[in-house]
Amino acid sequence: MYRIVAKRELAPKIKLFEVSAPDIAVKANPGQFVILRVCETGERIPLNLANSSTRKGTITFVFNEVGKTTEQLGMLNQGDRILNVAGPLGNPSEIRRFGTVLCVGGGAMTAPLFFEGSALRKAGNKIITVIGARIKDLLIFEKEMKEVSDEFYVATDDGSKGYKGLDFLRDILSKRKIDRAIAMGPVVMLKTVSEMTKSFGIKTVVTLMPIMVDGMGMCGACRVSVAGETKFACVDGPEFDGHQVDFDQLIKRQRMYLPEERLSALFHERVGGIKHRKSED
Ligand SMILES: Cc1cc2nc3c(=O)[nH]c(=O)nc-3n(C[C@H](O)[C@H](O)[C@H](O)COP(=O)(O)OP(=O)(O)OC[C@H]3O[C@@H](n4cnc5c(N)ncnc54)[C@H](O)[C@@H]3O)c2cc1C
Ligand code: FES
Repeated sequence: MYRIVAKRELAPKIKLFEVSAPDIAVKANPGQFVILRVCETGERIPLNLANSSTRKGTITFVFNEVGKTTEQLGMLNQGDRILNVAGPLGNPSEIRRFGTVLCVGGGAMTAPLFFEGSALRKAGNKIITVIGARIKDLLIFEKEMKEVSDEFYVATDDGSKGYKGLDFLRDILSKRKIDRAIAMGPVVMLKTVSEMTKSFGIKTVVTLMPIMVDGMGMCGACRVSVAGETKFACVDGPEFDGHQVDFDQLIKRQRMYLPEERLSALFHERVGGIKHRKSED
């Protein structure tokens, strides 16, 4: 019974769902994800946890509508039900006192960054945050991230708010003593941040998002290369040392079903949506 108890549109095509899932909420930690299926004929898609409440028995995730399944999900409303939600999956983030932690988040992944950033703040770390998006209208969780940060910066690709691009980060890295960096967002952003922090010798943990199917280490779809070894992001990750990841291979693998995904989105657009599952169904 994965009932949507709250739905919020945070930005164009970026939605937040709070879903009733007491069994998952009780075990959920920052860094973990769920795999859900919207309807009987739907594919399984992974989404990171952006929050959980054992008191309310809910989990929260934020997603960007990028294709067929995320668009189907976005069509559901408060009171509707999601067919299956499996989780929590993946390994929890390492939360302890490191000192000063740089948190970099891009797009919808700023929401799970908030879950991890809040836990790191509670553990006694000083938090320096950079959140980014393509344009200012796509920035999310600005207020929330500011509240858990000691220093807070915004960057956009077009410079419509805050810094233009991430080049300014080099300045922060050279002026501050940073003990650890975490980054969540598009793979190109993870690669850029990891390359920058590497020259300053700052341990950097990135959340990888390869294509996943079972989320349990059996299908091999999510394999990534880390320090020259094959790892399965679902069971070995999804967080890895950013200085050891083969990002170019990951970028290629993320795009390997692009023609099928385009076809599927087109078919979905022409043929229409799904039957909504109301809680009383
Ligand atoms: C561990 C993990 C956590 C994630 N957390 C979030 C999150 O919190 N918020 C968010 O917006 N997105 C998140 N994603 C990405 C999200 O799963 C994809 O955007 C989604 O699966 C796209 O499906 P689609 O049918 O809408 O689009 P499609 O058109 O099918 O795909 C668009 C692109 O999404 C990626 N993708 C497609 N299917 C999958 C799949 N089964 N597994 C992983 N990636 C896929 C591919 O790169 C593809 O090119 C996460 C991915 C992983 C692996
Ligand atoms: S998703 Fe199947 S092994 Fe990771």
